[in-house]
Amino acid sequence: MAASLFQSALSLLFWLSLLASSDASAVAKGALTVRQARTAQKTGLPGSWQYQACITSEGNGRRVWKYQIISQTATATSCLTQCQSFGYQAAGIEYGNECWCGDAVDIAAAGSTTAAETDCGVACAGDNRYNCGGGNRLSWYLWTGTPLYVWNYPTGANAGRYELISGGVVIPLLTTSGVNGKYTFVEKFGTGAPNSTGAYELDVSQLANPSLAWREMHVKTDVFCSASVTLPDKAGRQINIGGWSGDSTFGIRLYWPDGSPGVPGVNDWQENVNVLKLQRGRWYPTAMVMTNGSILVVGGQTGSNGPPQPNLEILPRPSGAGVVYADWLERTDPNNLYPFLAILPSGGIFVGYYNEARILDPVTFNTIKTLPNMPGAVNNPGAGRTYPLEGSAMLLPQYAPFTGPLGILICGGSTIGAGIALDNCVSSQPEGDGAWTLERMPSQRVMPCMTALPDGTYMILNGAHQGAAGFGLATDPNRNAVLYDPSKPVNQRMSVMANTTIARMYHSEAILMQDGRVLVSGSDPEDGKNPQEYRVEVFVPPYLLAGRPRPSFTIANKNWDYGASIPITVQVNGGGATRVSMLGAESSTHGNTMGQRTLFPAVSCAGATCTITTPPNKNVCPPGWYQLFLLDGPTPSISTWVRIGGDPAALGNWPPYPDFKKPGL
Ligand SMILES: *[C@@H]1O[C@H](CO)[C@@H](O)[C@H](O)[C@H]1NC(C)=O
Ligand SMILES: *[C@@H]1O[C@H](CO)[C@@H](O)[C@H](O)[C@H]1NC(C)=O
Ligand SMILES: *[C@@H]1O[C@H](CO)[C@@H](O)[C@H](O)[C@H]1NC(C)=O
Repeated sequence: MAASLFQSALSLLFWLSLLASSDASAVAKGALTVRQARTAQKTGLPGSWQYQACITSEGNGRRVWKYQIISQTATATSCLTQCQSFGYQAAGIEYGNECWCGDAVDIAAAGSTTAAETDCGVACAGDNRYNCGGGNRLSWYLWTGTPLYVWNYPTGANAGRYELISGGVVIPLLTTSGVNGKYTFVEKFGTGAPNSTGAYELDVSQLANPSLAWREMHVKTDVFCSASVTLPDKAGRQINIGGWSGDSTFGIRLYWPDGSPGVPGVNDWQENVNVLKLQRGRWYPTAMVMTNGSILVVGGQTGSNGPPQPNLEILPRPSGAGVVYADWLERTDPNNLYPFLAILPSGGIFVGYYNEARILDPVTFNTIKTLPNMPGAVNNPGAGRTYPLEGSAMLLPQYAPFTGPLGILICGGSTIGAGIALDNCVSSQPEGDGAWTLERMPSQRVMPCMTALPDGTYMILNGAHQGAAGFGLATDPNRNAVLYDPSKPVNQRMSVMANTTIARMYHSEAILMQDGRVLVSGSDPEDGKNPQEYRVEVFVPPYLLAGRPRPSFTIANKNWDYGASIPITVQVNGGGATRVSMLGAESSTHGNTMGQRTLFPAVSCAGATCTITTPPNKNVCPPGWYQLFLLDGPTPSISTWVRIGGDPAALGNWPPYPDFKKPGL
């Protein structure tokens, strides 16, 4: 606003100076000659850009476009090229040095009108042969070639649908899919339900009777901003790590999921910070199961908004081992929390944090390769993707024979200072050239949650259009679900799906259910405007709404080796190709879906008997628990949990203290 007043003043001075000189006819003639000779650039433009008109840069009290780039070397070419590279199909240049990016629909939406060409008479700062707008005037350009993006707008059942399934009992901080067919909700102390116990388990088969659906559980220390993963031990225990304040930041909590849908479990969370604790206190850390079966815990802060914890550590703690310092975490604090971690097929460890990414050696944790920085906002390369500029990351599907590089997709995020949320996803193959491909999203989104679906597509849900993660830092909730389909060409992958009525911002989650729906929970905005959200919804993808019968299967061997042949008996209904997918056990918090991975193993069938060839090795498919789905064309079965790769770090005997019940090997 200040800038715009300043520009108006400058513009007034500019026109006054022309008027003042109009008495001296020779000067006026000269000025007119220059102005007639210099018009907006109309030829030699990059790509398929075409000059449209001189328009007013504001209308209805707001600016036509949101993204402003001020440059003393601005030209039409530099502006259009920059806008195009972030997927904007309209651009305008104002007052010689301001490039603005957006979409053509914004012009009418802002009530902008066409102005006289002579209003756009200011020379481009970077090339005075041409005009680049004027005071409160934009020389505007439109991309007229093949669209830079195509968003799909399915309707009816093809848009999927949200359904409310429970009024809820807590505002979960983190949700986990359990190998017992239930869903773990852990909740921070103090801001949730009255008399919070810190943990509940949801059995969706019992929703008709809420007291059976929700089992109260107990943690001893505060899980506020902790990490969780499912262990590769034979019980599929869940581990929760770190937390808020004092002992909680050192917390290591274990839960052995028991019971089954309709059958209550009796196990509870176990912890004893006096015997089992992290080496360093951490809140906002990320955890990951490594290929050797140990648990890698990375980063975070020391707790209570304290200094960074720029290091990583291993659980169980190898005898005598300390933490490993990471200069790149220290340098990018505080914008690197809940870093994104993934095992790559080469065995290296991908880490994405702030707007950077690198590959670490899995033994020494030295950097093997530094990737290019992730592009951020069109007008701000310093935008980021991890808390508090929170975006969400997913591993793209891996297909048999698993020889290709792994793709990583990161959507949304924000700019420092709780700015406009990012409206793009970036993807890269870290083991290839590492370059980031940018795709426009249909809307801005900070604090998105993403979850992988069994058909190799992804849902992008929750979050806000503006701001950052944290209490009271975001505005304008984004209630639209977006489907991302990586089997389609780049820039044609996103579909605008159904909308919810429930705002889900800070502390919201999304995880894949065994029936192929998405469990959507949480929101703890503390903004005085949007509710503290207890209600639990599901997003029902279109593959369950087309009226096609579900396939089903039976499997005897649920404990797999790598490269093995596993028989299954299938019941399909001729819906299309028969495929199987494996979806990693996941925990969702702060846009980080720890454990997520999607694999499509080879399967061959003779009648109802099929054989799955399991993934070849621990780098392609880290040891652990996966939901196995059968797909009949687009329609998924109910999943069955399988484990692959055993328990190489013998976690089943850990930790060696009587407070903990252990499944053994
Ligand atoms: C919470 O605990 C207090 C004290 O134990 C009790 O008076 C109150 O009724 C409890 N509230 C709920 C909602 O259970
Ligand atoms: C796994 O690798 C890490 C990093 O080198 C090491 O500290 C840990 O001891 C290993 N775990 C096992 C079970 O060998
Ligand atoms: C959801 O809302 C968006 C606007 O935010 C709209 O474009 C879209 O059509 C809506 N989806 C459905 C299925 O109605």
